[in-house]
Amino acid sequence: MSELSWGRRYVMVRPDHFRIDYAINPYMDPADQPDPRRARAQWVDLLSTIERLCATVEVVPQRPDAPDMVYAMNLGLGVVRPDGSGDLRGHVVLSHMRYTERRMETPTAQSWFERSGRITSYVGREGVGAHLEAGDVFAWGDALVAGFGPRTEELALKHLATDLGVRVRGVRITHPAMYHLDLAFCPLDERRALVAPGAFDDASAAALLELVPEPLVLTDDEALTTFCANSIVIGRTVVMPAGGPERVKAQLSDWDFEVAEVDVSEFHKGGGSIRCLTNPVDITLGRDLPLVTGGQVVMPPLV
Ligand code: ARG
Repeated sequence: MSELSWGRRYVMVRPDHFRIDYAINPYMDPADQPDPRRARAQWVDLLSTIERLCATVEVVPQRPDAPDMVYAMNLGLGVVRPDGSGDLRGHVVLSHMRYTERRMETPTAQSWFERSGRITSYVGREGVGAHLEAGDVFAWGDALVAGFGPRTEELALKHLATDLGVRVRGVRITHPAMYHLDLAFCPLDERRALVAPGAFDDASAAALLELVPEPLVLTDDEALTTFCANSIVIGRTVVMPAGGPERVKAQLSDWDFEVAEVDVSEFHKGGGSIRCLTNPVDITLGRDLPLVTGGQVVMPPLV
């Protein structure tokens, strides 16, 4: 079975200042603070697991006043694109966060990405465009699948499609505890993905299930209590938050995936898990994602 062609290069933010200072999702409670030492050890364990699987990690230091910056997935959507001369160059479409509490993360990420040799852009105009949070966007099949609703705004999908020159398929997220697509959807290989249909309205759930030839359908309970959809996939290994449902792990192993479990429970207190802590930057335009002149947005019929 063919592996995903991306997911071998990641950016992670070192949890130097991880705290729960505010509550912008149903998991966060400032009265329930992470233990900094445990959080750091869990993060190091995740990083070593990724490196052991022969993927690479670039580490960004955390800005002291940005406690959620550890959820690196939300800094921006990284792609690799041919530049004018035909060379490949990293490009990061920076997020424009829904909540002001996280907005200071992106200018810091922008300078870091630029220092690392990548170009950066915002959808719309910097700081005033539509909200886009990169945890809502995945390469899948011939398009980017983008969740909108709780965080990303529908208008951002149009900008993303035009700015990158790709097809974007929108799915409407309605479940308040699955507020990013990456809490309800995880591509496994070219035919299979974890999907929690309960995150979406009926039309979007149906549209997403139709896009996945062999979905591993998760119940709301499986997705919400174990964060199992917030896994990452490196080749044929699924790096999953520890304590994933036995049923899900059994199906994955029937499909010839290895499952590597990593305990990142301290980060669940902020409402994120393994995918949220890691941002893949190797989705290559033209290879993993076809270019479409002018871009195109495809929406499910509205209910
Ligand atoms: N506290 C963060 C927020 O609410 C958690 C982000 C989780 N990240 C993700 N990619 N789902 O924004």
